[in-house]
Amino acid sequence: MSAVATRPRGARKASSASDDTRYWKIVFFTNGLVPLIFLISDWYQGALGANPIDYVTRATGTLALLFLALTLAVTPLRMLTGWGTLNKLRRMVGLYAFFYTTLHLLTYLWWDQELAFGAAVTDVLKRKFIAVGLAAWLIMLPLAITSTNGMIKRVGGKRWKWLHRLTYVAAGLGVLHFYMLLKVPTRKLWNYGLLIGALLAVRIAVWAFKQATRGKKTP
Ligand code: HEM
Repeated sequence: MSAVATRPRGARKASSASDDTRYWKIVFFTNGLVPLIFLISDWYQGALGANPIDYVTRATGTLALLFLALTLAVTPLRMLTGWGTLNKLRRMVGLYAFFYTTLHLLTYLWWDQELAFGAAVTDVLKRKFIAVGLAAWLIMLPLAITSTNGMIKRVGGKRWKWLHRLTYVAAGLGVLHFYMLLKVPTRKLWNYGLLIGALLAVRIAVWAFKQATRGKKTP
């Protein structure tokens, strides 16, 4: 008789759920790397255009915003679809947002400013939109550091949840940073601004609904 056949039904269900999570984690991890692979391949082939620094800054900035929006979309999508695995992918989506934002920051500091920190500070003070972007990255840093299971335990579930709501602030600052650098708002800015605003509105509505129905449940 096979080991699978003798396994209790509950254990089999749990193991297939964890197989499903592992599968989706691999799918998401691989897909999250695709933009990076394209950037490296374009760089290797000298296909980054006339101004490679601009190209990479814009690409990584857009990816930062995209993954931040995806991070915020996880909970509403889970509520809408009831697909529990999404919760288990949230950490990876958030870490990808931090990864591409850090790549964006490094493109600026390392490539554009050639690690001349004095000049970078002067530039940040002169171009305020960069200071706003930096503030967003500084907010994301403790979120990335506290993303491990050990850190969640150490910080405490409730405090950790509150801390991670700062993702909304980081995303808002990301949109503001984008808005400040444009002379005329583009459709891309509107799309991200409205998407992130709508995701925040959904969370506020869910929170308000829970508050309103909390007292009514007890007879
Ligand atoms: C959450 C954090 C951040 C987000 C979401 C973000 C997003 C963006 C976006 C969407 C763009 C414009 C892309 C386009 O033109 O299509 C951009 C441009 C830029 N960002 Fe960020 N950014 C962030 C943080 C930072 C940081 C930390 C720095 C540097 C310290 C930075 C420096 C720049 C620069 C120099 C540009 C190019 C401006 C230009 O075209 O002249 N950003 N960013």
